[in-house]
Amino acid sequence: MIPRNNKKINPVRSSRAAVLRTRVSGVSETSNGIKVLVVGGAGYIGGAVTELLIAKKIPFSVYDALVYEHQYLKPVDFIYGDIRDYKKLKQVLPKYTHVIWLAALVGDPGCQIDEWMTRAVNVEPIKWLVKNYKGRILFASTCSVYGKSDKMLDESSPLNPLSFYAKSKIEAESYLVKHPNTLIYRIGTAFGLSDKHSRVRLDLAVNMLSFKAVNEGKLTYFGGTQWRPFIHVKDIAMAFVNGINNKAKGIHNLNRENISIGDLAKKIGKLTKCKIQATEHPFQDERNYHVSADKARKAGLLKGLKYNLEHGIQDISSLASFSRVSPEESTVHFNDKHLAGLMKDNKKIWKKRI
Ligand SMILES: NC(=O)c1ccc[n+]([C@@H]2O[C@H](COP(=O)([O-])OP(=O)(O)OC[C@H]3O[C@@H](n4cnc5c(N)ncnc54)[C@H](O)[C@@H]3O)[C@@H](O)[C@H]2O)c1
Repeated sequence: MIPRNNKKINPVRSSRAAVLRTRVSGVSETSNGIKVLVVGGAGYIGGAVTELLIAKKIPFSVYDALVYEHQYLKPVDFIYGDIRDYKKLKQVLPKYTHVIWLAALVGDPGCQIDEWMTRAVNVEPIKWLVKNYKGRILFASTCSVYGKSDKMLDESSPLNPLSFYAKSKIEAESYLVKHPNTLIYRIGTAFGLSDKHSRVRLDLAVNMLSFKAVNEGKLTYFGGTQWRPFIHVKDIAMAFVNGINNKAKGIHNLNRENISIGDLAKKIGKLTKCKIQATEHPFQDERNYHVSADKARKAGLLKGLKYNLEHGIQDISSLASFSRVSPEESTVHFNDKHLAGLMKDNKKIWKKRI
């Protein structure tokens, strides 16, 4: 290409400039017109998704209300916004061919704080999105929708939500399946580290148990017979990126390993060399399910997934052993504690005006 001012281009400099442009705005020339809006991209899974979009040179922006952050330092295009602000979304969305929708109130205890607010964040914006967006939607639902069952579950298995969180995701799915181009992942419990910027969630089984094992030198777990599907947060990101150019639509389970909490605790005990102890106390969280991700595998959505449980346990135990996460376990690492604190202080999403 001849530059307009006829000046010679230094190829090294210009390629550096291109790389810089890519890192700052997330834009590259090789993406065939694709532009992704990562809604809720400042969160735990969002950290891994944005990292992979950068690596794959797929142009994107993040849209987030920073519910858990004071600042967003990742050098990518960022739009501060609430998903309940339809006026803003209406202006933003037409610029994007794809939406990866991660924003939600997440987790059983956090969603129980105020069911009205949970619907306002997890359901109403989805209803609006389905009516107002024509591009491809990739949506994060949860395996919690299955609740409790001893059978291996697939996408046609009966739903048995045990929490308002799971109910809100089922309702969101019911609108999304009517959209002509939506891929819904029912995701197992995430674990591991996502990127250098985003908050570590310590309210997730593998992360919480690994952190406690290293931090306290012993691990006491309740129950232990319940099964759960797990997946590394970076593998979730890979599945979302795989879904961008894939034709798959509708509901797909997304997990890598099913394991009982007891066996998980034993694995963590072995890797961190800490004592483990089961207690007879009844476990409050009754969820128990094994989930098959065969449908996603057959659709080619699991290509490149590579992180096992050991990897995630290692991620969190090395953070804990160097005290890179405060041993006091700041409430920001726990969705419910942080949301309850924001509610008490009438901050962020709890404010009357968006
Ligand atoms: N982490 C898991 O184990 C897991 C498992 C299954 C499904 N999921 C789903 O994946 C998605 C992401 O989960 P996560 O673990 O990254 O959670 P997270 O809480 O770390 O991230 C959620 C993000 O959404 C943003 N957000 C919340 N309310 C908002 C609002 N009103 N407007 C704009 N932004 C808002 C938050 O600021 C945050 O950055 C969620 O939809 C969750 O239900 C997560």
